[in-house]
Amino acid sequence: MTSRPLLSELPGYSDLQALANGVKSTSVSQLLQDDPGRATDFTLEAAGLRLDYSKHLLTTAALEQLLRLAEHAGVARDIAALFSGEPINNTEDRPALHTLLRASGSQGLEGKFQEVVAARALMQTWAERLNSGAQQGFSGATITDVVNIGIGGSDLGPRLVSEALRPFHGNISCHYVANVDPADLQDTLLELDPETTLFIVCSKSFRTEETLTNSLAARTWLRNAGAGEDALGKHFIAVTSNLQAAAEFGIPAGNCLPMWDWVGGRYSVWSAIGLSCAIAVGWENFAAFLAGAEAMDRHFRNSEPAANMPLLMSLLEIWYNNFFQAGNHVVLPYDNSLQHLPAFLQQLTMESNGKCVSEDGRALPYTTGAVLWGSAGTMGQHSFHQLLHQGTLLCPADFVLPLNTHTGMREQHRRLVANCLAQSRTLMVGRTQEAARAALLARGLGAQEADRLTPHLAMPGNRPNSVITMHSVNPGSLGALLALYEHRTFCSARLWGINPFDQWGVELGKEIGSEILGRLSGEASPGPMDPSTERLMREWRAAQEGDARA
Ligand code: F6P
Repeated sequence: MTSRPLLSELPGYSDLQALANGVKSTSVSQLLQDDPGRATDFTLEAAGLRLDYSKHLLTTAALEQLLRLAEHAGVARDIAALFSGEPINNTEDRPALHTLLRASGSQGLEGKFQEVVAARALMQTWAERLNSGAQQGFSGATITDVVNIGIGGSDLGPRLVSEALRPFHGNISCHYVANVDPADLQDTLLELDPETTLFIVCSKSFRTEETLTNSLAARTWLRNAGAGEDALGKHFIAVTSNLQAAAEFGIPAGNCLPMWDWVGGRYSVWSAIGLSCAIAVGWENFAAFLAGAEAMDRHFRNSEPAANMPLLMSLLEIWYNNFFQAGNHVVLPYDNSLQHLPAFLQQLTMESNGKCVSEDGRALPYTTGAVLWGSAGTMGQHSFHQLLHQGTLLCPADFVLPLNTHTGMREQHRRLVANCLAQSRTLMVGRTQEAARAALLARGLGAQEADRLTPHLAMPGNRPNSVITMHSVNPGSLGALLALYEHRTFCSARLWGINPFDQWGVELGKEIGSEILGRLSGEASPGPMDPSTERLMREWRAAQEGDARA
């Protein structure tokens, strides 16, 4: 493999630092004032989403230079390689074909596409079977509740989509259990009846400790309620690429839906991993979710770089990460139904791009994956927005704003919209010392007191943010939104020169975890661990003995 140049080796990279330094001496408000067309020129539309990126610390010259960087990095070639199924996950020698999962045609990948079509048919059958009341549990009662047991990509995507599309739900209630903390499963099961509950074990590998532990506990719960071993087929479905492990668990082959090694866990909500969502909202709505993502795929694949929404969002990420050392990115959905979006995006971006070597193993001389965080508006306004407005850390923000509510409560929704627009504008304009002092004087404070408080009320402003609007949260817009962030993540990875489709960094923790579990369970150890871990294990043992005595 010929090694690809690192981002910092690309022509024009160092010019960008000079451009960034230049931008620091101006303000976004000034840029908007100087160029009346900026609010429309710095806006893009794709797949039902509109991105307003006019409130960024970005001049036209800087944007053009960033686009040249993408050209030198060969991002257009990478996009083609992604869709055509080249083995771009080079450390595992696999393609990353999540786009095929939502494709309406084979895109030249006939064999794999046929497998996708067959999996969709199985999903549809299960969704219809459950919603029609045809699926009965061991006692003959109709299944009313589905519990998805999975973690990471086998949980975050399905949980987000199911919650976001609650207004589209049919007859089945869906629940999500992920944590190995027994309280997660226990709290969920407290509300449920074993006779009417079906579990979906969602695990690509069928080896994940949390998922297997919870699935075994769920099986015991059913058995304790009177379900025989032969009744497991009425209460368990598996979505996995490890059919043998699912069979050993006791799930009949007819209840297993496929996953493939050419789909990464965090990119898998479009596959049968999304079965709980298809059950919750029905097949038609799930198909509309896929179609929304496919529309974004088409845009990503076919648009000019300057009009390519995922690429532009990625270039903004590179801009702030590498030239302003922001190191973080905050996502603020102003719609309660999107409250799980930041958690989903955390895995998507940080598991994909939290890498310190290039795809060919060279240590990277620049920072890569930013910390992604956030919460649903307006909640954050009363907690962390203080730091966004007046803290010393630069936090580039994405506001995600659906323009309509499904609740019918339009006046209350208007308040939500006003808050979102106000936060976006306030971050940009801030408040000058003069304006702060004038406001204090207007409140009737004396000049001396006003002078004392002025620095505390003044706000620097000039804090960059995007606003992504859409008609409402619906299957299509949600599909487009998630695909947008997937492709943004991909572009950033390719610009940084890293492989976003592996996650070797999570493996060592699993290995050490099983070693410590062995020690806590009384197994002989090959030798002592570090003094801190040894002391903590002793503390845990003492707590157990204390509990046993009590
Ligand atoms: O440990 C990380 C991870 O492998 C994620 O990448 C994945 O989404 C999650 O665990 C769950 O994996 P599985 O679907 O195989 O249980």
